[in-house]
Amino acid sequence: MELFLDTAKVEEIKAGLETGCIDGVTTNPTLISECGKKFEATIMEIAELVKESNVKWIVNAEVTQVESSTAMITQGIYLSKLHQNIVVKLPATIEGITAASCLARKNIRTNVTLCFSVNQALLAAKSGASYVSPFVGRLDDIGENGTELIKQIRIAYNNYKINTKILAASIRSPFHVSAMALIGADVATIPFSIFEKMFKHPLTDNGMMRFKSDWETFTARSEIKQVNFTR
Ligand code: G3P
Repeated sequence: MELFLDTAKVEEIKAGLETGCIDGVTTNPTLISECGKKFEATIMEIAELVKESNVKWIVNAEVTQVESSTAMITQGIYLSKLHQNIVVKLPATIEGITAASCLARKNIRTNVTLCFSVNQALLAAKSGASYVSPFVGRLDDIGENGTELIKQIRIAYNNYKINTKILAASIRSPFHVSAMALIGADVATIPFSIFEKMFKHPLTDNGMMRFKSDWETFTARSEIKQVNFTR
């Protein structure tokens, strides 16, 4: 499963990049507004990091002109020209999916977002979208089962050998991430705080402390000196 960071914060993207474990970035108007910088400037800054990173990152940029499919097409074309790694995010409405179809015919990659049902995921695939983004946490918030939706979309897509990638979004816990991997989501996009938590296990920390203390006790008692590994 690919891991994307769901953030527009450049410092978080840089930190994720350093680990070598991140394959892309998703942004949305809320995340960009939280940065307090201009939309285009933020997308460009992220795209530049991608260029420097030398890995095949994907940067998801969401349309903000959502009043009609025509407006979304115009903005989608504009966004796609900002950088070759940009995927245009469009809402799973009739206007958004109409715009996604038009952009797909122009070979522009799209991500149909705000997906909350199997039917919306099927329509996203019909449009030729590269990704569909079902929101796991927001379904859980209203007492539905977001994880179950990912499972159902996986079955429906497998039934028809659909290539649109399932990008699980609105991920709220490390448990969600492993659930997505076990179901077979293609991508999970996660906040940086969840990414950090994925590394954590108390037994790893306890084990590290024990190895360190055992080694220090041993070297203090024996002739073995600490080896200097720098050359
Ligand atoms: O990528 C969509 C995601 O950012 C939504 O997450 O936590 O606002 O539901 P959340």
